[in-house]
Amino acid sequence: MRRKLAAGNWKMNGTKAALSELEALRDAHPDPAVDILICPPATLLSPAHSLVGNSPIAIGGQDCHAKTDGAHTGDISAPMLVDAGATAVILGHSERREDHDEESHDIRIKARTAQAAGLMTVICLGESLDQREAQDTLDIIGAQLSLSVPDSSTGLNLVVAYEPIWAIGTGLTPTPDQIGEVHDFIRSRLERRFGPGVGRSVRLLYGGSVKAANAEEIFAISNVDGALVGGASLTEAQFSPIIKALEAAV
Ligand code: 13P
Repeated sequence: MRRKLAAGNWKMNGTKAALSELEALRDAHPDPAVDILICPPATLLSPAHSLVGNSPIAIGGQDCHAKTDGAHTGDISAPMLVDAGATAVILGHSERREDHDEESHDIRIKARTAQAAGLMTVICLGESLDQREAQDTLDIIGAQLSLSVPDSSTGLNLVVAYEPIWAIGTGLTPTPDQIGEVHDFIRSRLERRFGPGVGRSVRLLYGGSVKAANAEEIFAISNVDGALVGGASLTEAQFSPIIKALEAAV
């Protein structure tokens, strides 16, 4: 069965002082019943990795370059993330698609590079409010999924996160039926493309305004294997109840 995953995306938040939250999280979950992943800003990857040590908490990056090295000022490569202690990387977040004009085919190449470096790729998909209101959600998600996910994907190196853009940082969330519809659709597309073995082993996360108050309801939805959490992953006090809700859903 798929092991559930509680992932925190710190985005562009956190200086060294924020590591105390990671330390508290580590101490609060010595033997979790779910996987825990924290993706801090790149500047904190190394100290975060030192802090979690051999604990069950994994560390991940928030993006990587499509190439492994070279003249790309300001960018970070997948082998560099591995070198800093990351075992995962978020790719194709809507904020990267928007702020850096990333398209699904760019994300597929990045994901191929990241998977070749040994990273688990958390590939994000999501529709805008306009697209949902135009009833284009499944078309958009289907296109993003087929174009962003590389053929090299397996149940171990691919996680798909469904993050409706309009739900990110807004306090709005889709209804359980809306989340379930998209997750079931992603699952069926993965099974069709990769076969039932791989298709059923890829974990599907929901992201967008997940917090303690709605976690239990979201984790009860079929094909929701965990969450990708932004704001509520920044403190142990807010993230721990979400982890506990996920453990209760195991
Ligand atoms: P929020 O949990 O802050 O809505 O962010 C979700 C997200 O974008 C995680 O990648």
